[in-house]
Amino acid sequence: MSDSVDVAEQIQSLATNAAAELGAVKDAAGLELYRIKYLGSNGQLKAAMKWLGQVPRELKPSTGQKLNAVKEAITAAFEARKAEVSNGGAGDRVEVDVTEPGRRPQIGAKHLLMQCVDELVELFARMGFAVATGPEVEDEFHNFIALNIPEQHPARDPLDNFYLTGTGSGASPAASALGLSLDSVLLRTQTSTVQIRVMQEQKPPIRVVIPGRVYRPDTHDDTHLSMFHQLEALVVDKNVTMVDLKSTILQFVHGYFGPETKVRFRPSFFPFTEPSAEVDVWFEDKQKWIELGGCGMVHPNVFKAAGIDPEVYSGWAFGFGIERIAMRKYGIGNIRLFVENDIRFLKQFA
Ligand code: DAH
Repeated sequence: MSDSVDVAEQIQSLATNAAAELGAVKDAAGLELYRIKYLGSNGQLKAAMKWLGQVPRELKPSTGQKLNAVKEAITAAFEARKAEVSNGGAGDRVEVDVTEPGRRPQIGAKHLLMQCVDELVELFARMGFAVATGPEVEDEFHNFIALNIPEQHPARDPLDNFYLTGTGSGASPAASALGLSLDSVLLRTQTSTVQIRVMQEQKPPIRVVIPGRVYRPDTHDDTHLSMFHQLEALVVDKNVTMVDLKSTILQFVHGYFGPETKVRFRPSFFPFTEPSAEVDVWFEDKQKWIELGGCGMVHPNVFKAAGIDPEVYSGWAFGFGIERIAMRKYGIGNIRLFVENDIRFLKQFA
């Protein structure tokens, strides 16, 4: 070191190198090497202090100040970098294991029940059925009166229905918003309501299936929930008989569950059909019959309420529980699984 200009340059390049090297330090091990190299007892800063001896006396104070300033700057930058590195590598620290397999994005899928609805609608479409839908909030006309369920019928008990307004409480805003004239509205208890709506709008021949949600204040168990789905069917034409009803249901059961599936019809009663029956299919996994729902020949009073002449037309209908159908099809023992949204259950059908 021959003169003071050299010393000033040396100090400058020491500062520049130290800053550049610090930027490249990525981890604790690098930090330690850096500390030893610049700040250690045999480090470059210690060595630089000796340069003071080479500068003329009058420049010693200013050179000393420069050296101190550089030392402080390097120390402060080192501490800051140390904090960054121990904070999990903020800044430009990148540790990517490129050999690790990527994470697959979670892709949603149609709910099993909606898949069933699609399958059922498609199966019935092949038998010539169109799809119809109707509102889940209904009036008493469509849910009861037109379906031949009289005022005193136990099915109309407020305890067995989700009424949205009290009976006889006057015109409700909900009812008038829907254009419903009656003063009592409720969540529909059956998709049979849509039979009426279809017959009010269409002339026979009618051949429709109606998938949809229904609501009942039932106690929950393995086969009951207070909200579930039904698949309704309605056929209206001249000379429609019980044979058509039975053969269509048999075709559906054998087409959907397999040709070996055992099915039975039990005589039953519904106000809107005469004669009526209930349909069971054999649930092999549970070794018992599972009830799909009811069916029958459309009651003349229902035709009259919907403006169709029962002397000219006849028809049949059924209403089956879609959860029951899905349970039988996929061997599911508990209806609650459909609403619990357990991804492990749902994924099996995605
Ligand atoms: N609506 C009935 C229920 O919810 C099921 C039913 C029975 C529907 C006979 C029909 C039918 O269309 O003809 O239990």
